[in-house]
Amino acid sequence: MREIEIHVAEHYGLKGLRETILQIAEDDQGRLRPDILENIDEFHIGGAEATSRMLDAIGLQQGARLLDVGCGIGGPARRAAQQLAARVTGLDLTEGYVALAQELSERSGAAGQTEFVQGSALEMPFEDGEFDAAMMLHVGMNIEDKPRLFAEVARVLRPGGIFVVYDVMRLGDDQPQFPVPWAATPATSFLEAPHSYRAAGMAAGLQVVKEFDRGAEAEAFLQMMRARAMEAQAAGRPPAPGIGMVMGADAPVKLANMAQAVRARVVAPIEIHFRKPGPQERLT
Ligand SMILES: C[S@@+](CC[C@H](N)C(=O)[O-])C[C@H]1O[C@@H](n2cnc3c(N)ncnc32)[C@H](O)[C@@H]1O
Repeated sequence: MREIEIHVAEHYGLKGLRETILQIAEDDQGRLRPDILENIDEFHIGGAEATSRMLDAIGLQQGARLLDVGCGIGGPARRAAQQLAARVTGLDLTEGYVALAQELSERSGAAGQTEFVQGSALEMPFEDGEFDAAMMLHVGMNIEDKPRLFAEVARVLRPGGIFVVYDVMRLGDDQPQFPVPWAATPATSFLEAPHSYRAAGMAAGLQVVKEFDRGAEAEAFLQMMRARAMEAQAAGRPPAPGIGMVMGADAPVKLANMAQAVRARVVAPIEIHFRKPGPQERLT
């Protein structure tokens, strides 16, 4: 692992996360409750709804192979397996996440369709052209070398394959206030503008198909989370399960900093769809 990757994995490798999640998501018979788990195992703005929308756009044939780059604890991969009947491989730097992703898949009956591998997106342990499609949700903010990231994705994608990126990107020169959910300090945060992603994708031989600014949806999502947390606090209840649970004790400040940066249009979650052209197609 590169030195920066060790720091990124440390940021995410929260102690006791497995126990916290199981405590919340298990029913009194020890079975996992999918309705609770889906609020915790998707570590990006918009949660399950955002993933589902992207999966509709990817639209694979049954049994096709999908790569989830930076899969976290596997929520998006399990959703993809279920929604698209695809076979999904999740790749992630953080060892504890990969183990937990595997365990949660086994316990929710998705293990036959999902597999999780520890490794770097900059050096993927996969063959050329192995995957029919790829997705990457809220990961590029931790990766400085975007050209290499895109080159690796383009390498493992088959011709004609789609790559959907959904990352927090910067809209100007300003930086958010730290900590944010993906980094405690600027040392492990590599926010880029959408044009840099497009350029990195095109340099790797990918075509840009579509782009969406999800800033308005993000603002609504973060406001809804905040309102729920305040409601619970006022009623003396513990907060409802949500993505804050995977962020540690300083989750409220990380979420508040991100919400402020989204509101001020310093950053926005941007979705860009790329496609790897076939051998006979001209690049546009
Ligand atoms: C904010 S989480 C998103 C997880 C997941 N995509 C989701 O939406 O639930 C970012 C993830 O990216 C992973 N990550 C960061 N840099 C990576 C790299 N170079 N290679 C592979 N995974 C990486 C982290 O370990 C972490 O699990």
